[in-house]
Amino acid sequence: MSRSYYIAGNWKMYKTRPEAADLAKALVAGLRGGKHKYLVAPGFTLIETVAPIVKGTNIRLGAQNCAAEEQGAHTGEVSVLQLKDLGVETIILGHSERRHVYKEDDALINKKVKLALQHGFELILCVGETLDEREAGRAEAVCETQTVEGLKGVAAGDLNRVVIAYEPVWAIGTGKTATPEDADTIHAYVRQVIAKLYGQGAAEKMIIQYGGSVKPENAAQLMAKENIDGALVGGASLKTETFVPIAQFG
Ligand code: PGA
Repeated sequence: MSRSYYIAGNWKMYKTRPEAADLAKALVAGLRGGKHKYLVAPGFTLIETVAPIVKGTNIRLGAQNCAAEEQGAHTGEVSVLQLKDLGVETIILGHSERRHVYKEDDALINKKVKLALQHGFELILCVGETLDEREAGRAEAVCETQTVEGLKGVAAGDLNRVVIAYEPVWAIGTGKTATPEDADTIHAYVRQVIAKLYGQGAAEKMIIQYGGSVKPENAAQLMAKENIDGALVGGASLKTETFVPIAQFG
């Protein structure tokens, strides 16, 4: 497989600045010389603290969201210009908590995707079905729609700045992980969706991370699967003891 593994930590709404600095420093030390690609996505108020710590290391700097508009009267939102100013390279978009708790729909996420790409960012586009959707046999269809709609209008030439994260909603923060086989089935399906949209070559290159209760104990089995190219890690990314072994798997 020519794709390289990419492990990202989504710190969600955790940590204060001193805690974030400690974690970032420990990760820089723990991942030095690591053989995969890495990213941390701290909360907005922590980015300026974490940026100088990870700068020049093998850990990229991410944000967990951005506004759909470049700037303007959008109280409480954070713009791509502000993120660029802080040195952010990658933006996570369409996370299930954004979709389901904050009701972001595919059209809004697509607007963010296009804006982020236009401003030179890389992005991690999250897709994934709820438990009800899985039980109704709709997991593939939901992931297909979220992928197609999320990437609407994205030029083939920009696809090398897009990573997809398959995150089944029922596995996020619940301790329940998709089996490597079930996850791989969806990853393979999403890869086919990319092939239909952009051709087989683009599909083969697409990095598709798995997210949802990834832990040191299950990371290697998940990533051994043909179509699983890394992980988007929430809870276990908050401690070096759990993130480093995941990130250094293999
Ligand atoms: P989790 O979260 O690892 O805590 O399940 C994953 C995510 O939401 O990205």
